[in-house]
Amino acid sequence: MALSDMLDSIPTSGIRRLFELAGRYSDALSLGIGEPDFDTPEHIKEYAKEALDAGITHYTPNVGLPILLEAISQKLKRENGIDADPASNIMVTVGGNQAFLLAISTFLRQGDEVIIPSPHFVTHSASVQLAGGVPVEVPCYAEFGYRPRTEDLGKAITPRTRCIIINSPNNPTGSVLGKGDLEEIADLAVDHDLKVISDEVYETLIYDGLRHESIGALNGMESKTITVNSFSKAYAMTGWRLGYVVADKDTISKMAKFQMYLAACPVSFAQYAAAKAINDERSRSHIETMRSEYQRRRDYISSRLDAIDGIEVTKPSGAFYIFPEVVGKDDLEFSESLLKNKHVAVVPGSTFGKAGKGHIRCAYTLPIPALEKAMNRLEDFMRA
Ligand SMILES: Cc1ncc(COP(=O)(O)O)c(C=O)c1O
Repeated sequence: MALSDMLDSIPTSGIRRLFELAGRYSDALSLGIGEPDFDTPEHIKEYAKEALDAGITHYTPNVGLPILLEAISQKLKRENGIDADPASNIMVTVGGNQAFLLAISTFLRQGDEVIIPSPHFVTHSASVQLAGGVPVEVPCYAEFGYRPRTEDLGKAITPRTRCIIINSPNNPTGSVLGKGDLEEIADLAVDHDLKVISDEVYETLIYDGLRHESIGALNGMESKTITVNSFSKAYAMTGWRLGYVVADKDTISKMAKFQMYLAACPVSFAQYAAAKAINDERSRSHIETMRSEYQRRRDYISSRLDAIDGIEVTKPSGAFYIFPEVVGKDDLEFSESLLKNKHVAVVPGSTFGKAGKGHIRCAYTLPIPALEKAMNRLEDFMRA
């Protein structure tokens, strides 16, 4: 199938439609936005200015600036327990988003299947389709904290399965996979010779003392795992468009070939600033400030939603989303009516796959006073 046919078969993101509608109301409160409401820390902006002044304004290697690759390699060892050679196992990408199509295109063949625990981030299934593959959604349930059950993943494996995509902390549910979950998924991957793409872009937003674990650090998973990460959420750098991939040498070199014809490289001075940011103490304190603020908001929004009749809450453990069930309601109609009547924007759960039906995604990327207003409006809406 040609890429143009593939594009026709992929729906436009439901999130965009909702934003367009929300734009009509001047007093709209948006719980739809999946990006930090914090600004990029000043010291990172200063590093970008320093790069501009130093003339770091040219193309970089397709895989990224060597100082950034080196900084990422050190960070992976220190924080994720992953050994990655900066010369062959890492590539910087134009946001984490770009990484999925680049990575999946290196190994997927027409008709190959990719297992995606669902509800899931929309780019995961779209990238599989664009690469000619078939996304196979495996539903996750509130009773298990929206973590995939290994037996369900196992049942979905067929002779055409090539890969499993996992995402912890998760968008849209906020679920977090523990080491035990990852070990079971790793066993499946080894037994059935599957790759695992692990989307870890929310790794710093994790609550209640939980620790982020990387599947790429587990024994036997070094060559099977493609880890995707990003500067967007951890450093409040969404508009800088910087992410990275950790993978085996062959995958990285194929991705670099693809990148040559796509973007050539991510923005040079943004890469320099990111390299400096990784090793700067001030970044660590910024990350902790954001993490503790989002935990406070998570607690607030969970308890407000929990007190509303007709809404079932599963308290998330990470990211900045909550994914309550709107019991007995159609999520598309519910979201549209909530926006029209109360000017509160949420994302219908079915945007994130079949398993999201009957749910809504609320991003708590607004300060608590605004969240309070949104919750008051939602409460009124439910009463009516
Ligand atoms: C789960 C997940 N992965 C990856 C991304 C990509 O982010 P970026 O392209 O800004 O790095 C997002 C963005 O919302 C996301 O939610």
